[in-house]
Amino acid sequence: MEKTHKGKIDVIYIDPPYNTGAKDFIYDDTYVETTDGFNHSKWLSFMNNRLKIAKMLLKPSGVIFLSIDDNEMAQLKLLCEEIFGANNFVGVILWKKKTNGNNMGWLPPVHDYILCFSKSIDYIFDMGFEVSKEEIEKKYKNPDNDPRGPWTTTDLSANHKGPDFAITNPANGDVFYPPEGRYWVFNEQEVLKRIADGRIIFGKNGTDRPVQKVFLNNRTLSKRKAESWWDEHGLNADATQELKNIFGVAKVFTHPKPTKLIQDILKMSCDKKATILDFFAGSGTTGHAVMKLNAEDCGLRRFILCTNNENNICKDVTYERLKRVIEKEKYVESLKYYKIDYIPISDRLYYEYADELLLHIRELVELENGIDFINNSEVAIILTEKEADDYINRLNKDSDCKIIYLGHDILLSGEQAEKVRKLNIKINNIPDYYYRELEG
Ligand SMILES: C[S@@+](CC[C@H](N)C(=O)[O-])C[C@H]1O[C@@H](n2cnc3c(N)ncnc32)[C@H](O)[C@@H]1O
Repeated sequence: MEKTHKGKIDVIYIDPPYNTGAKDFIYDDTYVETTDGFNHSKWLSFMNNRLKIAKMLLKPSGVIFLSIDDNEMAQLKLLCEEIFGANNFVGVILWKKKTNGNNMGWLPPVHDYILCFSKSIDYIFDMGFEVSKEEIEKKYKNPDNDPRGPWTTTDLSANHKGPDFAITNPANGDVFYPPEGRYWVFNEQEVLKRIADGRIIFGKNGTDRPVQKVFLNNRTLSKRKAESWWDEHGLNADATQELKNIFGVAKVFTHPKPTKLIQDILKMSCDKKATILDFFAGSGTTGHAVMKLNAEDCGLRRFILCTNNENNICKDVTYERLKRVIEKEKYVESLKYYKIDYIPISDRLYYEYADELLLHIRELVELENGIDFINNSEVAIILTEKEADDYINRLNKDSDCKIIYLGHDILLSGEQAEKVRKLNIKINNIPDYYYRELEG
């Protein structure tokens, strides 16, 4: 992914092993127990390597969300501050995961934390949820039949410096000042004007503190800031049920997250064309959530999931779940699965890996562009002169081909280039960063 997605990911969501000591975290091929004197250090080394890569993959405007519980929350927050910078901390969500803690621990925990860091906090300004029309309308009423339409009220004072004159209720002579440390949001002339035309009222009964009337017709704000307290965003039990519905049997995977939780994280943090990565994918909830959200709002979001293959989950659960969901819901999504080899790092140099990766250019181009060369005649890849001769010779006006991905050192002959141009086929040169060495 360093080749295909460096600086291209909008949102990363991860739900790593929590290091609970209950056989959930493997390091150096063995489970780490709580009695292991290095249990936190091992976990931190494991996360450190992965988070550094995660940061490199994020766009400048990208964000990462990390699920965690009490076992490693403190350690993970410090590690993220070191990697992403303390000033890039966006916030921490307290997500209610169950309704009772089964009396575990002294204060039974019923929540997880979801830490959020940005690659650069300068880009973070509107983390929030779209507010539906119905939700907005619910708050506006028109008890006095105001011809300007339904209204609600809002404060007339704010804590930024402003005027603090006395406001008199013309109906009964009561006098009001702004509360301690606050100021009126309008000058005296504007306040008098608004009292006269009924945009400032003295409460609903006419004798309370002055407030502003705000009208539904003038409402433009369509986002509500997301707050950190999340207790209606799906529970662990919902996630278990979702998996059961897909596989028909209970417990194909322990500790999945509910799709609603991930959908809500995505709703508040990225646009409809975002690329989303989860590199502790487990049962594939993140992919499922992306597809659900796309179906709901006609989004074009893409996802990349990675997982290890503990108990064969990758093929049997992660991939299988997504495949079944696409079929069942008739989603217009495509799905491709790659198996990745582990290459021991000790006895090799980085440039040797780079050479090895070049043997997989087809897969790299597919991954980068979200396409499939095998089952799609609209795209083709040409990596050698011979392939160019064979493929372009075979092309004719009935060919489906729309795009050819061309190896960076392949030069088409004038005749070939002309044929491709006449058939309206686009040539995409495979970028030269594929051929550069990986960063050490
Ligand atoms: C808590 S689960 C994630 C669950 C997921 N969010 C879901 O909803 O299904 C953590 C996952 O990380 C995977 N994992 C553990 N070590 C890993 C590693 N080194 N690389 C990739 N995945 C790993 C485990 O197999 C496990 O499925």
